[in-house]
Amino acid sequence: MRTKSLWEHTLTFFPQFLAALQARPCPDATVAVIGASDGKFVLPLAAAGYRVIAVERDPIALHGGEVRLPGGAISHALGLTDRLKLEGLDDRVQVVERDFLDAAPLDTLCDAVWTSCSWHYSANHHRPLADFVARMQLMVRTDGLFGAEFMMPVEQGHHLIEHYTSPEKLSSCFTGVWDVLLTLRTGEFAERAHVGQLHDHTHRMGLLLAARTPR
Ligand SMILES: C[S@@+](CC[C@H](N)C(=O)[O-])C[C@H]1O[C@@H](n2cnc3c(N)ncnc32)[C@H](O)[C@@H]1O
Repeated sequence: MRTKSLWEHTLTFFPQFLAALQARPCPDATVAVIGASDGKFVLPLAAAGYRVIAVERDPIALHGGEVRLPGGAISHALGLTDRLKLEGLDDRVQVVERDFLDAAPLDTLCDAVWTSCSWHYSANHHRPLADFVARMQLMVRTDGLFGAEFMMPVEQGHHLIEHYTSPEKLSSCFTGVWDVLLTLRTGEFAERAHVGQLHDHTHRMGLLLAARTPR
């Protein structure tokens, strides 16, 4: 990519999601990315030939603007829509500028849905985590793929917020038509300061991949 995401260097299980997606051949597949930010995952998916629906509530992530960088400097960041144009990928991506918890259901089901460290945002704490997960599940067609990487609790306060979850707890949302394909977790790891968290900090992350079955 000629343009870079502000999140380019943060740790991710996206390669595991992409491998699972590519193992389920489906020409012209549509992938929804919830909490798309400035496109760290939207652009590679579009460049790989997928149609992408990018749902994001933050206008700066979508349209660019001033952001505070580690060290305190203010910089102008490109948003998702500019990055898509500059990379020539805008015709493959539908951008939905909405809070996902309020967004109207899509007309068509997706082949896969992905989110990266989005549901722990405080803007989502007024609704149970199960609402966010169920909305994502409803977007997936039969034989389609669900993928989420998420923050696990590190600080004491995180244990009081169910949105900092674990693969085990999350798995309880994947019964019935869902087969859990893969769960992974990291230990605690140090991450360098980045936009939104301006000091070096500690994370713990989990991954859950699941498939919707015909049963
Ligand atoms: C940590 S950032 C994503 C970083 C990630 N590595 C990436 O680029 O995909 C999470 C994003 O989810 C978005 N988000 C969180 N809750 C949301 C919601 N309810 N609706 C839409 N976007 C949401 C935030 O605005 C933020 O841009």
